[in-house]
Amino acid sequence: MNYKLPESDYRHLVVGTDTKIPLANGQWVTCINFDNAASTPPLLSVLEEINQFSLLYSSIHRGTGYKSQYSSQLYEEARSIVLKFVNADPVNDTAIFVKNTTEAINKLSYRLQEETRRDVILSTWMEHHSNDLPWRKKFHVDYVQVNPQGKLNLEDLERKLIHYKGKVKLVTVTGASNVTGYLNPIHKIAELAHRYHAKILVDGAQMVPHTMVNMRPPNPLQHIDYLAFSAHKMYAPFGTGVLIGPRETFRQGVSELVGGGTAEVVTHNWVLWNDPPHKDEAGSPNVMGVVALMAAIKTLTALGMRKIDHYESQLAEYAYSGLKSLPGITLYSHFSPGERRIGVIPFNVRGIYHEQVASILSQAAGIAVRTGCFCTQPYIQKLLSISSKQMEFYRKNGNFPRPGVVRVSFGLYNNFNEINILLETLEQIIRHPTTVSPKCYTI
Ligand code: ALA
Repeated sequence: MNYKLPESDYRHLVVGTDTKIPLANGQWVTCINFDNAASTPPLLSVLEEINQFSLLYSSIHRGTGYKSQYSSQLYEEARSIVLKFVNADPVNDTAIFVKNTTEAINKLSYRLQEETRRDVILSTWMEHHSNDLPWRKKFHVDYVQVNPQGKLNLEDLERKLIHYKGKVKLVTVTGASNVTGYLNPIHKIAELAHRYHAKILVDGAQMVPHTMVNMRPPNPLQHIDYLAFSAHKMYAPFGTGVLIGPRETFRQGVSELVGGGTAEVVTHNWVLWNDPPHKDEAGSPNVMGVVALMAAIKTLTALGMRKIDHYESQLAEYAYSGLKSLPGITLYSHFSPGERRIGVIPFNVRGIYHEQVASILSQAAGIAVRTGCFCTQPYIQKLLSISSKQMEFYRKNGNFPRPGVVRVSFGLYNNFNEINILLETLEQIIRHPTTVSPKCYTI
């Protein structure tokens, strides 16, 4: 193993990377965070911006004082910064600030729902529950198949678009999988959807923080209609998310949440709703969260998303080949040479329950990973070949340990040496499972 690998150029830009934490034996080590697909730690620039902005912070939109005017202006300017970051249409699109991707997708599901019709939504087998559950009950939902490796089957997408004869309102797909790290060909998918008169929503939660996203490539058929993402996965964990889409979508109808800020005129008999995006942001907005997101976008743009993408891909490839070389590891993602990916790798140690592996990694080496199904259960059931009959068993036996996988996920501040520590610890777990941990369950 090569121990002279470079450090991340970005490590000093992120808060808490050198925090010491205790191991089970009482020794203190530098923490290793391989759970970036869940949430990333804040950038230093984000904290600095929050501190600086606090001096001028005030509630927005309805205040006449200087601070309120200043805060309102910043908040409104943030929308165009967000639109520019993903090359959305600055004239026709709007950026609505929400809590996170889940709220963004829920919001869109309400706004696209029609009282008199039950349209078809094509989701996929690889979606996070957030891009599946909000669509159920309001629409007829069908799921585009994945192939045996878990990659999206575009032929099945086209088959389904043809089958529903123009009735598909939206194809909703993740940009990158939070389980396998596969990047979906969103522009190809957009083209297919548009050819059959459907729109496309990209769940950008895992894609936007790690790779450059372009909502408007040169071919208009390949444009992305809607995009959702979360700031807490892009180094700004202050409770903001974004939904981008055509202003026209939000002009019609009424938001699922109404109240302060959503209406222009209210009488007891009628309401004149505000224009988008305000009518979709009920209550006092999360100004601090938006300022944090702006700071993160500024820093990520200055570093260059292509460079970040390249560095994280190198981390992922290094870890993937290291894991592949360990006997006793089962990998659940498969890449052709040169295939693009994000830094997410799912695996199991054969014969040891996934939660046990995670717990040993934490207690023996200070490595934080995530285990289970990552709110993406149907996809994990597919990858692990778990039958409906088995799922019925787990449903009836709630206390029985459930299947799942271990997931490592990288951020721009992780480095190769941390991966070496992961590989060494896994090697020990494989060699001496009972001495590293006495309590093992088989998968
Ligand atoms: N859904 C997030 C994840 O994949 C929390 O970890």
